[in-house]
Amino acid sequence: RPSVFQCAIDGPAASGKSSCAAAVARTLGFAYLDSGALFRCVTLKHLRRGTESTDWHDFTAATDLRLTALPPLTGTTETGPVRPRVFMDGEDVTAAIRTPAVNSHVSAIAAIPDVRTALLAKKRALGGGIDGTLPVPGGYAGVVMDGRDIGSTVFPHAQLKVYLTAAARVRAERRVREAGGDLDLIEQELVKRDALDMARAVSPLRKADDAVELDTSAMAQDEVVATIVGWVRDRMRSGI
Ligand code: CDP
Ligand code: CDP
Ligand code: CDP
Repeated sequence: RPSVFQCAIDGPAASGKSSCAAAVARTLGFAYLDSGALFRCVTLKHLRRGTESTDWHDFTAATDLRLTALPPLTGTTETGPVRPRVFMDGEDVTAAIRTPAVNSHVSAIAAIPDVRTALLAKKRALGGGIDGTLPVPGGYAGVVMDGRDIGSTVFPHAQLKVYLTAAARVRAERRVREAGGDLDLIEQELVKRDALDMARAVSPLRKADDAVELDTSAMAQDEVVATIVGWVRDRMRSGI
């Protein structure tokens, strides 16, 4: 049985993965890892240099990627979850990886097999190895990782796999509330990116066979977090 508790949260764009995963991790005192940020960094680096790569594996593997740790939530008075800061080759790119340019190119970069292979190694190294038997950097007892292929590919033995969904309109409304923009355009962008992520040959977005699906269209973030925390605690108690 794996020694590190692995919780995989996958789902389409803006379904609430990162905000909920961060809060779940902080509540449990686990590490939180935003795998989408890694793909966004590689995309940003590629867009900046503007030329085609000849070796995507080397290009990706040679990029130094760091996510800051989030402090555990200890009381009930703290405000909502914050995102980790993201550093690429020593530069703080937390804001730069969330621009429309990165949004519109990231799915194409994430479909390149050599990019995925290089980041798969990175994701596993940060999350206890393929089966949770390796230590997690920082010494955490568990890890929550969100993305598209965490339950299906990265951590196939994860003790809990959640597939988080919400209606496209609801997801677009959440993004607009968070960052502004045109609702119809944002919905189109999300739907287009989901289609690309589901259609790629290597580890596409899909619900793992043993994942629990949670439709959050009518759920507040706090309810989603409480539900997932409850599932983790059930599994820890029953020794799964
Ligand atoms: O936050 P949002 O849902 O918009 O996206 P993200 O989680 O930051 O992921 C950005 C993109 O990275 C996705 O659209 C996928 O193309 C890619 N990705 C992936 O292929 N595999 C993952 N495990 C995570 C992200
Ligand atoms: O990581 P992902 O792209 O799946 O989504 P997110 O960035 O965590 O969530 C997108 C927005 O939806 C954020 O502003 C969240 O606060 C919000 N959200 C919500 O309003 N209700 C939920 N049940 C989950 C997230
Ligand atoms: O203390 P320990 O050597 O176990 O590990 P660490 O210094 O906490 O982290 C080792 C590496 O893991 C860092 O250099 C980061 O690249 C990565 N890391 C990360 O990306 N995000 C985290 N939340 C924690 C560590």
